[in-house]
Amino acid sequence: MEFGKNFYWGTATAAYQIEGGRNEDGKGESIWDVYSHRDGAIARGENGDHACDHYHRMSEDVDLMKGLGVNAYRFSLAWSRILPEGTGRLNTKGADFYNRLIDKLLENGITPFLTLYHWDLPQTLQNRGGFLNPEMADWFEEYAERVKELYGDRVKNFMTINEPQCVLGCGYRLGVHAPGIKVSLKEQLSALHNLLKSHGKAARVLKTIKGAEVGYASCGYTYAPASEKKEDIEAAYERTFAFEGENPLGTISSFAEPIFLGKYPKEYYEYGEELLPKITEEDMKLISTPLDFFALNIYEGKKVYRKADGGIGEVEPKPGSPKTQMGWEITPENMYWGPKFLYKRYGKKVYITENGVSLADYVFSDGKIHDTYRTEYLRTYLKELRRAANDGETKIAGYFHWSLMDNFEWAEGYKQRFGLIYVDFETFERLPKDSYYEYAKIVRENGKNL
Ligand code: BGC
Repeated sequence: MEFGKNFYWGTATAAYQIEGGRNEDGKGESIWDVYSHRDGAIARGENGDHACDHYHRMSEDVDLMKGLGVNAYRFSLAWSRILPEGTGRLNTKGADFYNRLIDKLLENGITPFLTLYHWDLPQTLQNRGGFLNPEMADWFEEYAERVKELYGDRVKNFMTINEPQCVLGCGYRLGVHAPGIKVSLKEQLSALHNLLKSHGKAARVLKTIKGAEVGYASCGYTYAPASEKKEDIEAAYERTFAFEGENPLGTISSFAEPIFLGKYPKEYYEYGEELLPKITEEDMKLISTPLDFFALNIYEGKKVYRKADGGIGEVEPKPGSPKTQMGWEITPENMYWGPKFLYKRYGKKVYITENGVSLADYVFSDGKIHDTYRTEYLRTYLKELRRAANDGETKIAGYFHWSLMDNFEWAEGYKQRFGLIYVDFETFERLPKDSYYEYAKIVRENGKNL
């Protein structure tokens, strides 16, 4: 067994997590530039001012991708590098950075997968309310137009927004990510609607690019059945798409149902007029602009079963079961069930646009990084993905490992290392880990010998 002939093998990153170059060449400030400097916001008081210094080492980084043998790369644009004020004036120098990146990728046979928004809103737009302002959809549309003009001749694979669940859930509900605010349920619901409209407007623009495929990248907290019994499989499917009234921003369905099916989950409408924003038929048409794929960022999930009373029970992890440095469970079976359920419900080919593991990597006395646990993680998750790709019912189009290199892990700072490449955050030296070579082998063999 292996993956399909035209399978995309890639790695993924995000602008704020790797670029650095905070104030360079006319870049405007983003909400992460501001938030990361807020007292107590980030572990050990770290920030992304320099991150991996990718802004100055882009060429070396693409060479490292070439060494991996991947044929795709998922990255995001720093909106405020291109439009320092969020709208209006173009910053040519900033825009050219991505021109150079895209050209270098294409010269090396690496297909660019571009994310417009991976969390770093221009601060000027946050000052006007960010996603709480209904005008956000127009700002995002204008930005998408720029992206189309600038890169649409060479880039054909787009994601509008990365993990809208985190954008709003972490940024506006829990306040643990930029912009670091906690708004009322009513405001959360309105931000959700504004975000969906922003997505819709951008998708509509991007779809006019010749040959373009468009999606958005969803959080992938999915549920696997505790056994292969029909009732457990049904329970896992139900739970994967369940809506949580108390946390409407956290689930897959809050975003995927309006986008792919043109309707919010039915429980959503139960909030009633007092809490819900104004929703028109036209809005829903815009939000459900047809997309080409489902992009899933998948790290961990849970197992569930059907209880005798018809409810759904969650299987508690065994005492002493392993956790990653992030404290996340290791659940490869979700890599089979998650994409399978998503394909079944929405009928769109699935890309795994993020998957990976944070470990306590360090340089051994022989000068290398022996991250055996990452290799095992990679193999076991990919094996499950391969099972889905070959089950005759699910279309899997690609896999992007998170991440190409260690980087700025948001509120966790630099202590969480997710990379296939180790980064020394003082010298910015890159050092491929053992898993880099293992992944290169997997890619070469198209996943045959997992
Ligand atoms: C995000 C990444 C992040 C990764 C690991 C995803 O939530 O898209 O930016 O680094 O998971 O936490």
